[in-house]
Amino acid sequence: MKIAIMIIIAYLLGSIPSGVWIGKLFFHEDIRLKGSGNIGTTNTFRVLGKKAGIAVLLIDILKGTLAASQPYLFGMSHVNPLVIGLFASLGHTCSIFDHFHGGKAVATSAGILLAYNPLLFLMASTFFVSTLLLTSMASAASIIGITLTTIVALFLQDWILAIIAGILSIVVIWRHRSNISRIFNGTESMVSFGLGNYL
Ligand code: G3P
Repeated sequence: MKIAIMIIIAYLLGSIPSGVWIGKLFFHEDIRLKGSGNIGTTNTFRVLGKKAGIAVLLIDILKGTLAASQPYLFGMSHVNPLVIGLFASLGHTCSIFDHFHGGKAVATSAGILLAYNPLLFLMASTFFVSTLLLTSMASAASIIGITLTTIVALFLQDWILAIIAGILSIVVIWRHRSNISRIFNGTESMVSFGLGNYL
């Protein structure tokens, strides 16, 4: 019963469409109608600017961290936080507050990793930032970040992490279908602070 409640809370936390709500509340803009149409950090930076982008990044990470921390908070440390956290990422992509639409699960999945093991979070963030600096594409950084994290989990023989990261890799890649087509056509949006143009 407690596990079911934690799963529901994780799903509801993940469902919070921070980008949509911040856009509507503070900017009177619907980010779903602008830029890539995604509700996540990258499109928030693109459409609403730096402050809103940072706020969405932090809130989306926090959703995953809080959701995955529930087993610790409720004294059920025998329950793997990744298993509960997974439902926050699923909520983010399939939000009850956004007609079961949603984002691409990147920041929320990173938040889950932060609750599970901060060193793994740092490692995944390093994969993301290095790829972003090399390619200037947040989408490529997201896909490579989650895929490399899954590969590291296999090397570490942390099978639950490998399974959850594997599921999240599939979700992240699936949600980036349109980005992948744009990468292959050469029309994917570039993040302006990257070094891609200089390397
Ligand atoms: O986390 C989302 C990012 O990887 C891509 O965002 O807006 O360029 O589709 P966007």
